Amino acid sequence: MTPSPAKPAVLISRLVPEPAIEMARRGAEIDAYGTDAAMPRPELLARLRGKQGLICMISEAIDQALLDACPDLRVVSNVAVGFNNVDVAACTKRGVVVTNTPDVLTDTTADFAWALLMATARRVVEADRYLREGRFQQWQYMTLLGGDVHGKTLGVVGFGRIGRAMARRGRGFGMRVLYQDAVAADAATERDLHASRVDLATLLRESDFVTLHTPLIPETRHLINARSLRTMKKTAYLINAARGPVVDEAALVQALREGWIAGAGIDVFEEEPKVHPGLIGLTNAVLAPHIASASSETRLKMATLAVENCLAVLGGRTPPTPVNPEVLARR
Ligand code: 8YV
Repeated sequence: MTPSPAKPAVLISRLVPEPAIEMARRGAEIDAYGTDAAMPRPELLARLRGKQGLICMISEAIDQALLDACPDLRVVSNVAVGFNNVDVAACTKRGVVVTNTPDVLTDTTADFAWALLMATARRVVEADRYLREGRFQQWQYMTLLGGDVHGKTLGVVGFGRIGRAMARRGRGFGMRVLYQDAVAADAATERDLHASRVDLATLLRESDFVTLHTPLIPETRHLINARSLRTMKKTAYLINAARGPVVDEAALVQALREGWIAGAGIDVFEEEPKVHPGLIGLTNAVLAPHIASASSETRLKMATLAVENCLAVLGGRTPPTPVNPEVLARR
């Protein structure tokens, strides 16, 4: 009997749902970190050495040093749609395929961004605190007044999958939708979502809610800064479930403190897990620890897709969602 070929070796850098690990075990020798915390860098490098596959999170920096230390690596399967933690150019140069997990998290992420929008405008977190602190002594007419959502103008910055899912939700609330993106959506999409493309200054000036859905690239770092925050309406709200560095956090603190805008719903921060201390004391900010895609269903789908991507590359097949398909063409 001919011995079956050795399975490739794969490191999974975090605790992920068990069915995804079982699926991975069918196609590879799996070394799974059993903890839901970032693997210390020296341990990551030590355990990845000699392995062909890595299934990792945005907390892992996949850089030149890691690629140098792990020359056997053939695929970096990021369990996220964003991949700003990966030096894609360096991977491409070395023939390492990079994959991500788009689509499966679109609606879950938009649901949460919408929850932040609603919670911020209608002061849900403040109301909860008010009640728990025993301050609901009598019903009051003028207490905890928020801003309306329905019928307002929604400004979507970054009109990709998640941005469009936000626009769809906005339509359900009878909102006018403006969007800004380097690329115009096709006419049918604009018609379907009743969305109009405008420049960023117009969007900031006219929107009651500005919601960010851009990737983090050099052009979007501090896209929202003191100047843009001053351009927004004093009654407007900023929502960020994209990437922290898209917003200048210090400028946001000043804007919220001094009333340049009415409030903000923030899921991502400039230097996670650090949060600007100025944000903590502000009641007009609703803050969350980067959980927009965190539903049980979606976390399972993300991990499963990441495993599929990884096993496909190692098995010589085309992965469902490659980031640098040009590497595949070279094989
Ligand atoms: C994840 C995300 O929470 O997909 C992304 O880009 O930011 C989130 O869905 C996180 O990246 C998991 O690694």
